[in-house]
Amino acid sequence: MRKKIIVLNGSPRKNGNTSALVKSFTAGAESAGHTVTEFFLDSMDIHGCKGCFRGHSGQTYPCIQQDDMNKIYPAIKDCDVVILASPLYYWTLSGQIQTAFDRLFALEEGDGNFLRGNGRASALFMAAEGYDFADAVRYYDHLMEHLRWKNLGHVLAGGNMKVGDIKGKTELQQAYELGKSIE
Ligand SMILES: Cc1cc2nc3c(=O)[nH]c(=O)nc-3n(C[C@H](O)[C@H](O)[C@H](O)COP(=O)(O)O)c2cc1C
Repeated sequence: MRKKIIVLNGSPRKNGNTSALVKSFTAGAESAGHTVTEFFLDSMDIHGCKGCFRGHSGQTYPCIQQDDMNKIYPAIKDCDVVILASPLYYWTLSGQIQTAFDRLFALEEGDGNFLRGNGRASALFMAAEGYDFADAVRYYDHLMEHLRWKNLGHVLAGGNMKVGDIKGKTELQQAYELGKSIE
């Protein structure tokens, strides 16, 4: 079945290693007939959560802050799959993606929970200079348990520092296959 897939790309490098994983994934997913919408978070105006607990999940724009999260909320509500893509920054996901994810909390408060469950699935794509993804994977897996999204797995590309380092590496093929395997 055709799926609506959202990618949250937390890298600031449009042609970086994370973005290369996203491109391969997208090619695989589109070859299987799915639609992929990428949000390149670093180019978006997204502010940190204020912790006000005044979100209204039932509204189109559920947060008290009006910024580019308003492009993401309706897309998330409507999608089947959410891909988290990020460089490894200090053993975890980048600030760009963590900031956006905190703001998704607005979909969990007020008029019912529009974030958890709903048959959604997710996968994690990461690039890093080293190979110590353990803390990031633990965080992601924990998040998936909380959200009750089906965890489709991780593509973790270590050994990549500079833009282009990932070229020709097996993780690009893994990302493609993961995209193609979504059903
Ligand atoms: C602020 C910052 C923190 C980083 N922290 C780590 C780290 O903890 N472990 C690691 O292996 N690489 C770390 N790196 C290297 C990046 O993960 C690596 O350059 C990666 O390829 C960047 O992905 P991108 O090309 O998608 O931006 C860090 C880079 C930056 C700029």
